[in-house]
Amino acid sequence: MSDGNQRTRYALVGLGSRAEMYVNALASGFPDTAELVALCDSNQTRIAAYNGWLTDAGHPALPAYTPDRFEEMLTAERVDAVIVCTTDSAHDHYLVSAMNNGRRAITEKPMTVDVAKCRAILDTQRRTGVPVEVTFNYRYNPVHQRVRELLADDTVGRVGSVTFEWLLDVQHGADYFRRWHREREHSGGLLVHKSSHHFDLVNWWLDDRPELVFGMGRLFFYGESNGARHGLARDYARAAGSEEARSDPFALDLAASPRMRALYLDAEHEDGYLRDRNVFGSGITVEDDMSVLARYRSGVSLNYQLHAYSPYEGYRVCFNGSGGRLELAVRENDYARSPVEDGFRLERPPGTDAADFTRATITRYPLFAEPEVLLDEPLEPGHGGGDELMLRALFGPPAADPLGLRADHVAGANALAVGLAATESFRTGAPVRVSDLLPL
Ligand SMILES: NC(=O)c1ccc[n+]([C@@H]2O[C@H](COP(=O)([O-])OP(=O)(O)OC[C@H]3O[C@@H](n4cnc5c(N)ncnc54)[C@H](O)[C@@H]3O)[C@@H](O)[C@H]2O)c1
Repeated sequence: MSDGNQRTRYALVGLGSRAEMYVNALASGFPDTAELVALCDSNQTRIAAYNGWLTDAGHPALPAYTPDRFEEMLTAERVDAVIVCTTDSAHDHYLVSAMNNGRRAITEKPMTVDVAKCRAILDTQRRTGVPVEVTFNYRYNPVHQRVRELLADDTVGRVGSVTFEWLLDVQHGADYFRRWHREREHSGGLLVHKSSHHFDLVNWWLDDRPELVFGMGRLFFYGESNGARHGLARDYARAAGSEEARSDPFALDLAASPRMRALYLDAEHEDGYLRDRNVFGSGITVEDDMSVLARYRSGVSLNYQLHAYSPYEGYRVCFNGSGGRLELAVRENDYARSPVEDGFRLERPPGTDAADFTRATITRYPLFAEPEVLLDEPLEPGHGGGDELMLRALFGPPAADPLGLRADHVAGANALAVGLAATESFRTGAPVRVSDLLPL
């Protein structure tokens, strides 16, 4: 804490969509403990958009830095901690630099995108001893906290196996195929970018870590040849300015949303980042349908499936235990809560209604006894309420953490382990030992 008020001075790197949550929280949410003092991004138009919103809300504009002035920013702005919210493939650069300069490093998930970058982060952390935190907001979702408590209380006895299915719908799932997530070098693929949340949950719920992984995955739905095969292809490269895109339910209309326009359409002249590419266009190097089988150190097996072209969004996790079965079923979609204002065409997916649109249930099926519904409630906005609770833990006064919600670089690497090993398994066709990839 380097200012007289004992407030931690934060710099935020990466001023895209996700940054909004951090900017809003730090601008006004934690006046006694936290302060946002600088912004850094490779795109100065996006920083200017954020500074415009800050001044509109009565806050001062913040000093803006380009990537080559990152270290200068740490000194000049007396930064205590750096929040990394860039494209996934740039996380490692800023984490390593922050640690080398003795600044606490906080990163959005996934911690990084490949084995070499993960090793570099772990090596630097070991050498410098500087704390790294990975913001796994899904841990903070109260429903997920409840699952952790139930398993720790042996509600279904010892767990033998887990099945976990996650469905991304044709709004949220499709969105990964419009922008950088569609390229493995930038996102690591969805098993890294998206599933690191899910593998972290399993690691944390079981208090265990994965050791052997086998995976199969392919691009089945999105992409040029699939679009033609499924009769969904439209002939345009990006939606803005395209007549053809106007009637495409998969197109994103950036101009329809002042926020999306300011962050992306008006900023693309600087770096060529197109936010609204055709999901049935060429150049996609990640999968949209993935199956994984993993064995944990305790012997628990995990059977996991993710696909990104579902008619509805949600997930189901089942724990098979020596005393019965615990099932978590969730319908969620933060995307569809405000799709129109963010330029998304599809509103509520067909077949869902307002009442069950976002809802979680936890059911226990004991052996030789009646099932019991332990929880049945609507989800809070912001990743089931996880975002809000995580911000309080990050930026509020120090508080006890009995469930171990805060995640460090080791948890970040263990969350990557299944996805990285499964991706290697896609390539080789063989099971992969996590210890052959990462020094965990
Ligand atoms: N935990 C969650 O629920 C959640 C939700 C959304 C996004 N995220 C994470 O947040 C991060 C940002 O995602 P987003 O949706 O805001 O992406 P985005 O594309 O909207 O923003 C990324 C920003 O990073 C900047 N950038 C890219 N390379 C850079 C570099 N080398 N140096 C400095 N800036 C650079 C871009 O200019 C852009 O402003 C990602 O890591 C993503 O995985 C997490």
